[in-house]
Amino acid sequence: MKNGKAGYAVLGLGVGMAHAEAAFKSERADLVAVCDTDEKRLSAALETYSGTKGYSNFDDLIADPEIDIISICLPSGMHSEYAVRAMRAGKNVLVEKPIDISLEKAAAIDETMRSSGVRCGVCLQNRTNVNMKPIKDAIDSGRLGRILFGSFAVKWYRTGKYFRDTPFPWRGTWGMDGGGSLMNQSIHTVDLMQWLMGEPESVTSVCELYDHNIETEDYTASIVRFKSGATATFTTTTCAYPGLATEISVYGSRGSIEADADRLKLWKLRDSDDRDEEEREMLQKFGNGNSSAEGPVGHAAMVEDIISSVIDGHDPMVPPKEAMKSLAIALAIYESARTKKTVLL
Ligand SMILES: NC(=O)c1ccc[n+]([C@@H]2O[C@H](COP(=O)([O-])OP(=O)(O)OC[C@H]3O[C@@H](n4cnc5c(N)ncnc54)[C@H](O)[C@@H]3O)[C@@H](O)[C@H]2O)c1
Repeated sequence: MKNGKAGYAVLGLGVGMAHAEAAFKSERADLVAVCDTDEKRLSAALETYSGTKGYSNFDDLIADPEIDIISICLPSGMHSEYAVRAMRAGKNVLVEKPIDISLEKAAAIDETMRSSGVRCGVCLQNRTNVNMKPIKDAIDSGRLGRILFGSFAVKWYRTGKYFRDTPFPWRGTWGMDGGGSLMNQSIHTVDLMQWLMGEPESVTSVCELYDHNIETEDYTASIVRFKSGATATFTTTTCAYPGLATEISVYGSRGSIEADADRLKLWKLRDSDDRDEEEREMLQKFGNGNSSAEGPVGHAAMVEDIISSVIDGHDPMVPPKEAMKSLAIALAIYESARTKKTVLL
């Protein structure tokens, strides 16, 4: 730590560039280094962030004593191996989503974090979207009453080019992506579903490959049962041209809330003094998405979170055990589709 600021590094310069930008702009960190095996990406990053060190070799990166925190932004099936090696070298880490693609490899991240005495956060940044806190608060405070059911749908679109447009072809493969529309594009919404609805009990699912030349699925549909007795329908796809909304809806015995990814769309609570007026106010405040956020959201929020957890000494917003919950649900959905049976969690 230099002058009270954390030395930050980013490994993998695809979405990793969003981490680099956030660390570069942070008042509590210095962007010390970036690392990628792809020369073009590495030199582009060094041009953007002059004065930053560039590494093409991970061992050299983790040997750098100026680095306190590394964002691990490699293909999903590589997260655990590299996060574990970084933590063993004494580095704190922010791991991109999903934490990894198997529970064993995710558990290795959790165990190494504990044995190395470093901090580890997972980048499930949709929890920081402006509309999420009011929804979570309404549920946790009981204003929505007993949670009865939910409806979650990720109706996205990805072209064939998207799957090839990387120096390291891994998207849409079981071995490195761990799945398709569910494991990659929708793990944020799996996380939000369990965060809002509570602990799941079982899933009953189908998966299809409808419209892409990839190994994995591009469509899933599930009925999720929760231990509370609540139920949710959950759909994911990368076939919904041209890319439609993400639906996040929760219905309770005392009200209904519907949202898009970062916008509140409907807010009807029975205990309100003036239901229509409250809805108007809530939609005005939280209906315009993250552009109206007062503090950092998205990747910037996750980068600030790991920096403050290291400097101020608190747990990150999404520690490994928390990120393992969405991974376990995604894996159960694949198992249910494969076995054509309900899978207990
Ligand atoms: N949080 C989000 O919203 C979000 C968004 C996009 C991607 N992601 C996640 O981020 C991860 C990366 O996704 P991406 O789209 O940036 O992939 P990408 O393929 O575009 O980038 C990965 C980079 O890692 C580099 N790389 C591979 N092996 C390396 C090694 N051994 N050492 C150094 N560099 C190496 C590649 O050259 C490439 O530049 C995935 O896990 C993905 O799920 C998260």
